[in-house]
Amino acid sequence: MREGVPGIDASICVGCGECVSVCPSGVLALSNGLARVVAARCIGCGHCQAVCPAGAVSLADADPWAGAYAVIEPTGEVIAPGAFPAGQLVDLLRSRRSCRRFTDRAVPGPVLEDLVRAAVTAPSGTNSQAWTFTVLTSRAAVLELGQAVAGFFARLNKLAANALFRRVYSLIGRPELEQYYREYYASVAAALVDWERDRTDRLFHGATAVVIIGAQPGASCPAEDALLAAGNMLLAAHCLGLGSCLIGYAVEAMRHDRRVKTAAGVPRGESVYAVVALGWPDVAYARQTGRRRPLVRYKTA
Ligand SMILES: Cc1cc2nc3c(=O)[nH]c(=O)nc-3n(C[C@H](O)[C@H](O)[C@H](O)COP(=O)(O)O)c2cc1C
Repeated sequence: MREGVPGIDASICVGCGECVSVCPSGVLALSNGLARVVAARCIGCGHCQAVCPAGAVSLADADPWAGAYAVIEPTGEVIAPGAFPAGQLVDLLRSRRSCRRFTDRAVPGPVLEDLVRAAVTAPSGTNSQAWTFTVLTSRAAVLELGQAVAGFFARLNKLAANALFRRVYSLIGRPELEQYYREYYASVAAALVDWERDRTDRLFHGATAVVIIGAQPGASCPAEDALLAAGNMLLAAHCLGLGSCLIGYAVEAMRHDRRVKTAAGVPRGESVYAVVALGWPDVAYARQTGRRRPLVRYKTA
């Protein structure tokens, strides 16, 4: 939690009290007809700045970098609730697909940086904004990470192939190895054979860039924050003509083997929650596809 974040310009404040009523933390109050900071519980959400009709509120820790898009051209318009066509949004949501076939073309640095900017518009628990982004900008860097992930899974498969190990792990309350053996062992083994034979990339699917999303220590909800940021990134990537794919295998490898994090340039103490493969798609889709019906409950009283 940060302290004393909003700044109020008393010469501009019109004393309407909008900032006071919108503040979720009770940080502001009206005093002598002007808004003032009266408590230090500010989470820096920026509602006070956003609601002020006079533009009297500033946020000390809002960095201009986050709004300085290089290739995306936001209008800066505030789209009011109900003002954006929901049908268009749903078409966008349904048109984004996990891409598993990329061209060799590199993704320019400014595009990757804009994807990070789009990602950090996501909500974060207690507005901690503690994301970290490690951006691999070349196919060579992606391949180096791929080699490290392959090494991890080769070691895991060796362990999982041993029935005695699986049994011992299950007996000590660690059924994951048995489960891994049942669900993933065979497909991972096949992918490793392809990788060793001719570097067929069933991990990153030939992506030319990868973004690893982690969190600095102290975030209240680091996993949720990372996946929400990743969701934004996937949609922004689609709008920019890029293909994208979340790569859970790489997340698992980084969680369990610090050598994989080292290969990616992620510091040892940092946790990783999402890995996004990116590149120019070598596939075009002709139609939207459907989803299964989820389990939905309604409670009316
Ligand atoms: C947490 C998570 C991990 C994923 N890991 C992988 C992965 O390692 N490799 C892959 O090809 N796709 C991966 N995916 C993509 C899913 O397979 C994909 O989202 C799903 O099949 C739905 O397809 P769509 O994204 O095209 O709508 C992952 C998705 C999520 C949400």
